[in-house]
Amino acid sequence: MTATTTTHPEASPPTRAASTPAAKPWLGRRARKVALIAHIIAAGAWIGIDVVLGVLVFTALLTSDTGTEALCYQALELFAVWPLIITGLAALVTGVVLGLGTRFGLIKWWWVFVKLVMNIILVFLVVFLLRPGIHDAAEYGSALADGKRLDLDISGLPFPPIVSGTALVFATVLSVVKPWGRLRKDRAAS
Ligand code: HEM
Repeated sequence: MTATTTTHPEASPPTRAASTPAAKPWLGRRARKVALIAHIIAAGAWIGIDVVLGVLVFTALLTSDTGTEALCYQALELFAVWPLIITGLAALVTGVVLGLGTRFGLIKWWWVFVKLVMNIILVFLVVFLLRPGIHDAAEYGSALADGKRLDLDISGLPFPPIVSGTALVFATVLSVVKPWGRLRKDRAAS
């Protein structure tokens, strides 16, 4: 008796081979690997910075030691804004290069398109929401180090690491699972 293997293309999510439209991607194998490595490093660094941001914010909120609280708020300004913008933009640029340079495209597959939109929104949030909040927190921290508690509202600080961290974990899951198929169903047969 011989064992036979049958494949069911519809049963598995679209793979790189199955998702191949006619046009040849302009990124060669090597260049694609380099771009993918840079993309994963940028995304990983971005997630790491969010984790440190969360550790500092929650330590400041939960500690009973005023010195530690002051130090955490001051440390936020040192690393939170520019490294987040740089890693966010690096993930965006390398992601766009990968999208345009491979068969995935930017608006062909839902998982790529959703990541693109999320990445742009997250970088905007860092620039327009997090930056002013971090500045206030640093001011609050230096006043605290001098023994004063300023009347500044820093209650929104836990949200950036929670929102951004959750979104980036979701983006990572999307990258690996590649769910939802194509944006335009009529092109599915191509
Ligand atoms: C939001 C932050 C992002 C995170 C955390 C992220 C994460 C990742 C990860 C971990 C992979 C590797 C998956 C694998 O090889 O199995 C990947 C691949 C990929 N990402 Fe992203 N990504 C992000 C943003 C973007 C953006 C903005 C785009 C494009 C608009 C993009 C396009 C791609 C493409 C096309 C691949 C597949 C590359 C290939 O296999 O050749 N990503 N991403």
